[in-house]
Amino acid sequence: MDRIALVTGAGSGIGRSTAIRLSQAGLRVVLASRGAEDLAATAAACPGPTLAIPADVTDPSAVDRLFSQAEHDWGAVEVLIASAGAGYSARIERTNDADWYRMLELNLTAPFRCLRRAVPAMRALGYGRIVVIASTASRVGEPYLAAYAASKHGVLGLVRAAAAELAGTGVTVNAVCPGFVDTPMTAATIRNIAEKTSRTTDQARSALEARQPIGRLITPEEVADAVWFCVASEAITGQAVNVDGGTVQS
Ligand SMILES: NC(=O)c1ccc[n+]([C@@H]2O[C@H](COP(=O)([O-])OP(=O)(O)OC[C@H]3O[C@@H](n4cnc5c(N)ncnc54)[C@H](OP(=O)(O)O)[C@@H]3O)[C@@H](O)[C@H]2O)c1
Repeated sequence: MDRIALVTGAGSGIGRSTAIRLSQAGLRVVLASRGAEDLAATAAACPGPTLAIPADVTDPSAVDRLFSQAEHDWGAVEVLIASAGAGYSARIERTNDADWYRMLELNLTAPFRCLRRAVPAMRALGYGRIVVIASTASRVGEPYLAAYAASKHGVLGLVRAAAAELAGTGVTVNAVCPGFVDTPMTAATIRNIAEKTSRTTDQARSALEARQPIGRLITPEEVADAVWFCVASEAITGQAVNVDGGTVQS
């Protein structure tokens, strides 16, 4: 499959593993996140052609420039993977407006802007695959996650509405909903739990592992496989695929 894919958050974790998975499948992959060094490391791990374009997806003009450069260098983006994101944990009364809007901007508005920018070319081609990395926090509420869960519930609404709107055009839109994945984001969560509960990081990691019925963290490669499952099919659209070791049954 010699398609052009664009992966946001490609410098680390799930985005990096997904870029590698798509590259292994034969796609050309545009790699986007802010850190150029991380993008170079992802490019080095991809077996096929890559185009690294540093971009802050919370900047609307940067999103437009990112797509324009990809189109200029290679052509229209046919597969969009929105993985750029971050977590935030706090009690409701300690979640200030800046934290709230930061979560919505990065986890909800940025995927919307990427989708909006990608869709016209996909419609014109009669082919498109969009996968947003959502979360189990898109499916259930949890303590201390008001801003993150709101952003991730919101992005699932975006996925479902877009899938309904684009059905029959050749463009599919899906979400992959991971549980705790072994990435730098989860490492930060583990450090945070250790600090706040006076446990060691090993103890905090074990606590997170125990919260998933399979008793371990998910690997980023397992999430990338689920992304590929969505990309490979025209029949799967409007779905939220849980990759969470059995945490959310739906
Ligand atoms: N890890 C988990 O347990 C887990 C569970 C459920 C859902 N998720 C979701 O999965 C996605 C990826 O998480 P991860 O675990 O792979 O995290 P990660 O290892 O921290 O990677 C996040 C990536 O997003 C990029 N990014 C962050 N802010 C950005 C911005 N403003 N503009 C462009 N790129 C930006 C980062 O690069 P730069 O900082 O260089 O920009 C990095 O490449 C997120 O949406 C997250 O919410 C993760």
